[in-house]
Amino acid sequence: MSQFRFINSSAASEVRIYRNSGDACKAAAELIVELVQKKNDARLGLATGSTPIPVYQELVRQHQAGSVAFSQVQTFNLDEYYPISPLSDQSYRWFMNHHLFKHINIPANQTHVLDGTVPASFADQHAVDFESWIHQAGGLDLQLLGIGRNGHIGFNEPFEASVESACNLPTRLVELHPVTRADAAPAFGGLENVPTHALTVGTRAILNARRILILAFGANKADAVKASLTGPPVSTVPASLLQMRADRVVWMLDEAAAAGLNS
Ligand code: GLP
Repeated sequence: MSQFRFINSSAASEVRIYRNSGDACKAAAELIVELVQKKNDARLGLATGSTPIPVYQELVRQHQAGSVAFSQVQTFNLDEYYPISPLSDQSYRWFMNHHLFKHINIPANQTHVLDGTVPASFADQHAVDFESWIHQAGGLDLQLLGIGRNGHIGFNEPFEASVESACNLPTRLVELHPVTRADAAPAFGGLENVPTHALTVGTRAILNARRILILAFGANKADAVKASLTGPPVSTVPASLLQMRADRVVWMLDEAAAAGLNS
């Protein structure tokens, strides 16, 4: 593993580059286990997508080996398609149950995932409530993130705005970006089946997490990683906004995702 601070004009971000994604996921899981061992009621912000699956497998393994207990932990997931049933295997609630929650000793009512079944007229209120639950729980001790090919975090998609307002986005209902929908099409059996909307935790709550681990693997993430770290913080590359909290952020990359940092 090589580790360094990537310094550009606006921030010095901690970057760790691993030989492969498996090593990076083990290291990410280890950081989470250490946190929960120290603080058994840790508040974890969790992510979905293919990237963190091995992190969850390692957490399950460590739990089953008796190294870590989750009975006091609370989790808050980043996002959920809208509308979607939690019983649908494309839903993030299903994903989390399948990959993590059902294998560890966390009570169901301590796992919070935005609800893709709320009526449209309540979606905004549900998003406000969800963010207030994070707040009332004392904020997030750690936020795990992946990154979209277009640089999105959660479902905070690229858009034109000042950095200040882009960093202050509330938890809300959003329209998905065409790149995001195209990337999700295989999982939904075709673009026409991909929801047009999603609920997402906003940049405000993400950036307030006391520690942020962002994982990116594979050559198809290299451009987004490069733009996020080498360019200025801009709303059109949401992950670049992490530079505004560089002291809390660790980028955990494989060599392919880090390729653009050398050139
Ligand atoms: C989705 C999720 C993101 C995730 C991204 C990348 O859009 N909302 O939270 O980071 O996909 O997914 P993957 O890890 O499968 O590349």
